[in-house]
Amino acid sequence: MITKKQVEAFGSIETPFYFYDMDLLRQTLDLYTEQIGKYGYNAHYAMKANANDRILETIKGYGLGADCVSGNEVKLAVKAGFDPGKIVYAGVGKSDKEIRAALRAGIFSFNCESVPEIRIINDLAGAMGRKARISIRVNPDIDAHTHKYISTGLKENKFGISPWAFQDVKDLLSQCPHVELIGLHFHIGSQITEMPVFALMCRRIEELQQWFIEHDVPIANLNLGGGLGINYQDPAGDPVAHFEEYFDIIHRNLVVRPGQQVHFEPGRALVGQCGHLISRVLYVKVGREKKFAILDAGMNDLIRPALYQAWHDIVNLSSTGRKLRYDVVGPVCESSDCWGMKRLVNTCRRGDLMDIRSAGAYGQVMAMRYNQRDLAKAVYSDDLK
Ligand code: LLP
Repeated sequence: MITKKQVEAFGSIETPFYFYDMDLLRQTLDLYTEQIGKYGYNAHYAMKANANDRILETIKGYGLGADCVSGNEVKLAVKAGFDPGKIVYAGVGKSDKEIRAALRAGIFSFNCESVPEIRIINDLAGAMGRKARISIRVNPDIDAHTHKYISTGLKENKFGISPWAFQDVKDLLSQCPHVELIGLHFHIGSQITEMPVFALMCRRIEELQQWFIEHDVPIANLNLGGGLGINYQDPAGDPVAHFEEYFDIIHRNLVVRPGQQVHFEPGRALVGQCGHLISRVLYVKVGREKKFAILDAGMNDLIRPALYQAWHDIVNLSSTGRKLRYDVVGPVCESSDCWGMKRLVNTCRRGDLMDIRSAGAYGQVMAMRYNQRDLAKAVYSDDLK
């Protein structure tokens, strides 16, 4: 929760800006690391969710590795001090330059998303006199019951290698002396809130693993990806993702063989709730049928509502006035630049500070300069004490 003192401090900061509640981040990480410690699991933070230096520093401090999806993310992870031996690198379109950089960094695993990619990694590693550790990102054909744009585990999605191609992978591996297969990787989607989906995924992993066992291909690592959702509807009442329930389901449903290591790639669940996009009301426009509260933050600052019809809680931090219904919108010249329709918010006046909640994941990192707008800066709670 944002405190009165913090709201006072916001008064002198130019809006819009991202505010990070570092206490909540640490509280979330405390619980997360306690849970993975309990089961002996490994975690690699999906830095695509938020790559701010202070966030990375905090997460690295908890001993997590990094999950990257581009050469620049690998570079940034190394620069931020993440152990290269704990970096995993996925993505359907890794360029030669990116692969070479990751080979030089000595990352833990390339999560390979196609058969031709394995051959290229082999060739590039060979030319550099290195051996690449790879995992097969499997497309398990599972419905994650989430928004279609953030669903990744269905057979029509571009991600991963389908089971029918396992034999091709095995044949190819026998001709690839510069790669070593160390595991299987799965990531079926993001903002998954239906827990049985994870149980289903574990059972499917076991089914798929059977193929490798039957074909004498040892699998030392199982990486279950990320995907655990957060509560966008009630961030104040439910600020920490349900890690206990999640890991309990995984533990009860995943068959782990002796010597096998289990990995995760959490993104949103670690950083989603600690971020707030703080904005000001520029104008209240009263029409015949509705009232608009026009904010100085727009879809260029946080694109999730425009892109995925995502719902973010909106709180007026400056008002205790009667709750009224507003269409809360941004300043960008797009009708999709809308924070929420008919939202019940305390009476808005020009200058009121508005809090768009649960903005820590896929918020600032996806910001852009459309309409030549400035990028919102980050403010950290630790600096306001
Ligand atoms: N691992 C892989 C291979 C991924 O592709 C992702 C996210 C993650 C892990 C982390 O997933 P998480 O724990 O955060 O759910 N921009 C979208 C979300 C895109 C997710 C992309 N992949 C949004 O704002 O909802």
